[in-house]
Parts: sequence; structure tokens; C-alpha cells
Amino acid sequence: MAALLSIQKLRTIFYTEKGRVKAADDINLDIAEGKTVGLIGETGCGKSVLGLSILRLLPRNAGIEGKICYKGQDILRLSGEQIRRLRGKEIALIPQSPSTSLNPVLKTGVQITEALQLHQKLAREEAWKAAVEMLQSFNLPDPERRVKEYPHQLSGGMKQRILAAIGMAGKPSLIIADEPTKGLDAIIRIQVVEVLHHLTKKTGATMLLITHDLKVAAGLCDEIAVMYAGEIVEHGPAEEVLGHPRHPYTMGLLASSPNNGLKPIRGCSPSLINLPAGCKFHPRCGKAREICAKKHPPLVTKNGSQVRCIFH
Ligand SMILES: Nc1ncnc2c1ncn2[C@@H]1O[C@H](COP(=O)(O)OP(=O)(O)OP(=O)(O)O)[C@@H](O)[C@H]1O
Ligand SMILES: [Mg+2]
Repeated sequence: MAALLSIQKLRTIFYTEKGRVKAADDINLDIAEGKTVGLIGETGCGKSVLGLSILRLLPRNAGIEGKICYKGQDILRLSGEQIRRLRGKEIALIPQSPSTSLNPVLKTGVQITEALQLHQKLAREEAWKAAVEMLQSFNLPDPERRVKEYPHQLSGGMKQRILAAIGMAGKPSLIIADEPTKGLDAIIRIQVVEVLHHLTKKTGATMLLITHDLKVAAGLCDEIAVMYAGEIVEHGPAEEVLGHPRHPYTMGLLASSPNNGLKPIRGCSPSLINLPAGCKFHPRCGKAREICAKKHPPLVTKNGSQVRCIFH
């Protein structure tokens, strides 16, 4: 089956005074319809940049190359008008920071109904009713009251659900959720995960889920892609990648998670301006040999998973 989203040879570079920041480098990633793909990796590895590249929401100093085919159409070749029509209606972003992504001077209900009126052409009254119903389906307590409040009156978890409602207003086929559980306490995190699960299973939507939380990834994702320094280093079925990681970086990332003893990976991520030669992970890798400093490993498919390591 053709992928709903097929990212091919994507390269996103920021041109800065200090040099060229290679935030996404030769990314190849297919997402099949109805699947949830998790994108994991340490801070600064390029996860949000990849999500924003798909929607072409990058700042002016960014250069982008390659192909991002959505339903067979290359997003990078669409006109400004065409991409605006795609955003929200076909592809929705649930952004990384709920506090800064909502308009502080508009009541939450207004922000949801604006999206509903725009995408579903609902009349004002109908849109308000639909907004309350959406929030109800996301298990937001007392939605009639919440829609009349401003973002600062809501908790982080509530704001996250308002953002999810805005994102879902256009009934998108593809959802890009960027750290939807970041900074939330355990109970709210479970609620947000339930909302996302409900959204994808009920509507059949496809999702790219960016997260640091491996428990969330394990609970929601069909597949996992692991990013390191702008590259995908491992990609495969979630149970394989999380249960039997093959790339030394994935192994390190799993061992460093709170559930597995918080054993940090030695060293730190490289600057995306001056990347190491050969395998980008070799300076931190306990299994590295001489060749790893010279040869840049390709992403190789074996037994249904892809791994970027010469020794696999
Ligand atoms: N506008 C910009 N100009 C220059 N560099 C940028 C810009 N935006 C992002 N970057 C750089 O691109 C790299 C990837 O950033 P990105 O936000 O995608 O990381 P991330 O994986 O989402 O991290 P986190 O887990 O902290 O959200 C970082 O090195 C960041 O500094
Ligand atoms: Mg990010």
C-alpha cells in the first residue's frame, strides 16, 4: 500500500551567522495510512524541525530540499495558497508548547469555533455546540465553562486538550503531535494519551507522534523512528525498536529513560554545524571501531527494520 506520507531525501538546513545548521539530513520516512509513528531522540536532534518541515512552517533562514509526498502530491512544490488549504484541513499540528500556542486574549471556545467555522463551514451556534462536544469527548471536565475561559485560566493538560480540539476541527487525515505530554503530571499524561488514542482509532487518522516519553511511545505507536543529530538511525515496529533495539544509540536512549534506571549516554550530542565525520554517533558509542570514524553508515533494511550502523 502506498504511504499516506512519504518523506524522501529531506534535508532542512538553517543558515545562521555561526554556520549551516543541518537540522534534518537525508531523512527517508514513510508513514502508512492509519498508523501512528513515534519520533524519538534527544533534545535538539531535529524532531520538531522535521514536523514543521512537513507543514512548511519553517522560519525564513531555513532551506529545504527533497520530497514530502502527501497522498502522492509533493508538499514542497505546492503554492502558498495550496499549502494553506492543506494545513488544518488535511494535516494538523498539535504544537509543542501549549502555553504559547494559544491566543492569550481569546476565549478558548472562540479559538476552537473559529477553526470549526473555517474548516467545516459550521454556523456560529453549531460550532459552539460542536466545540463543547469535542472537549467532552476528550474528557475535559465541565466543557461548557471551559469554552468561556481564557487560556491562562486552564491547566497545562486542559490547554493541551484545547489545542487537540483546534487541531482536530478540520478532521485531518494526518496529525503531527509534538510532545503532547511534555511537562504534564502523570494523571494528565494518561488522559492526554487516551485522547490521542481515541482520536486516531476513532477517526482512523494517521499520526506522527514526537515524544521524549518512551512509555507514551510504547503505548501509542505502531512504529518508532529514532533520530540522532538530524538523521534517522533506526526505524521499525515499535515492539522491535523498544524491545530489541539494534542501534547502539537506541540502546543508550532506552537505558537513559527514567523507567530503565536513568543511565545517561556518555558525552553529549554534537553541534549540528560541526558534525563528526563517519558515523555521527561514533564519539559517544561504546561499540565504535576505527572504521566508524571514517565511514558514514547508510540506513540498511533487515528483517523489517532499518538501522544505520555498520555492524548491523
Ligand atoms: N530557526 C532556527 N535557526 C537556527 N537553528 C535552528 C532553528 N530552529 C531550530 N534550530 C536548530 O535545529 C536543531 C533541531 O531543533 P529541534 O527543535 O527540531 O529539536 P528537537 O529534537 O525538537 O528538540 P526538543 O526535544 O528539545 O524539542 C537544533 O540544533 C536547533 O538549535
Ligand atoms: Mg522539539
